[in-house]
Parts: sequence; C-alpha cells; structure tokens
Amino acid sequence: MLDIDISPLITEDEIKTRVQEMGAELTDKFNGKDVVAICVLKGSIMFFADLIREIKTDVVCEFLGLSSYKDAMTSSGEVKMTSDVNTSLNGKHVLIVEDIVDTGLTMQYLQNNLNNRKPASITTASLLLKPDALKCDCKVDMVGFKIPNDFVVGYGLDYGGQYRNLPFIGQVSSLN
Ligand code: IMP
Repeated sequence: MLDIDISPLITEDEIKTRVQEMGAELTDKFNGKDVVAICVLKGSIMFFADLIREIKTDVVCEFLGLSSYKDAMTSSGEVKMTSDVNTSLNGKHVLIVEDIVDTGLTMQYLQNNLNNRKPASITTASLLLKPDALKCDCKVDMVGFKIPNDFVVGYGLDYGGQYRNLPFIGQVSSLN
C-alpha cells in the first residue's frame, strides 16, 4: 500500500442509488434501441459493470484503452489510445462510459475519434465531473456526481495503480 490518507467522499450506497437512477434514465433515452456501450479502461470498470446492468435494452459491451497521465496525479494533456474496440460503430447508438471528467481532454478526444466512425448517436455518461478543472468545452450528457477539484480514488479510480478496489470514492487528503 502507498502511504496516503483517504477521506470518504461518496459512499457505496450513494453510488448504488445514483447508478440506478442513471441506468433508468438511459433505459428511457434508448427506448429499446440496441446500444454499444464502451468501457474506457481501466478506471470505468466498476461503474461500467454496475451501469450496464441497470440499462434495460440490448447492450453490446466494448472496451477501449486510453492513457493521458504522465505520473500518478497529473495529466500530460496528451491522450493516446492504447487499445481499440473490436466492432464497427457505423450506424450504432454508442454509449461512452467514463469514470471521471477532469480537464475534459480525454472525453473530447474520445468524442472526436468516435464521431469519425459515423455512429447513429453518441451518449456520454461519467460517474464524476470536476467542474473547476475543465479545460475544454466537452459534452457530457449524464454526470453521477460533481466533485471538488481534488484527487479521488476508489470504485475503479486509482492512485499509482492502487485503490481501484475500494467500494467507495475517497478524497486523497494528504500525501505523506
Ligand atoms: P481528463 O482528460 O483530465 O478529463 O482526465 C480523464 C482521466 O484522468 C480519467 O479517465 C481518469 O483515468 C484520470 N483522472 C482524472 N482525475 C482523476 C482523479 O481524481 N483520480 C483518479 N484518476 C483521475
């Protein structure tokens, strides 16, 4: 374990309730259409797994790897795709599932990249959004929680590769 302090910010129950609400909203939105849901690795794994089970329509699951971090807590601002989806998105209703929108550069990159593949529609859902950190005008259709501009871990989000398995979201309050 790394030597950091983590203060609880969003509880397991709060996450569960909000993910159910988001799933219900997406069920209404897609209204029986087939959906390709894209899990953005690795941070979205928990949110993705819980959210797709709350969406009551046919969902194909795809996985896409991106990296933008030059060290554990600072974004390089340069987004790279490390692995791509395995299906054509042409004419499909695409749901991008992100863990967190911080500067928004990753989401912006993704939307531009996936738009070029001519999907029928793109819907974006992010569990977390840091409004004070945004550096671009990216579109996020659905946000679970708006949080302060602090580094968070848990429920898929990591610090130095660790803490993804915490069942709650915690704020990294101090680095020793
Ligand atoms: P953005 O491009 O700055 O919006 O950053 C997006 C990616 O950075 C997310 O998908 C996360 O993987 C990572 N990230 C941003 N903020 C945090 C944080 O507070 N904790 C953990 N990862 C974060």
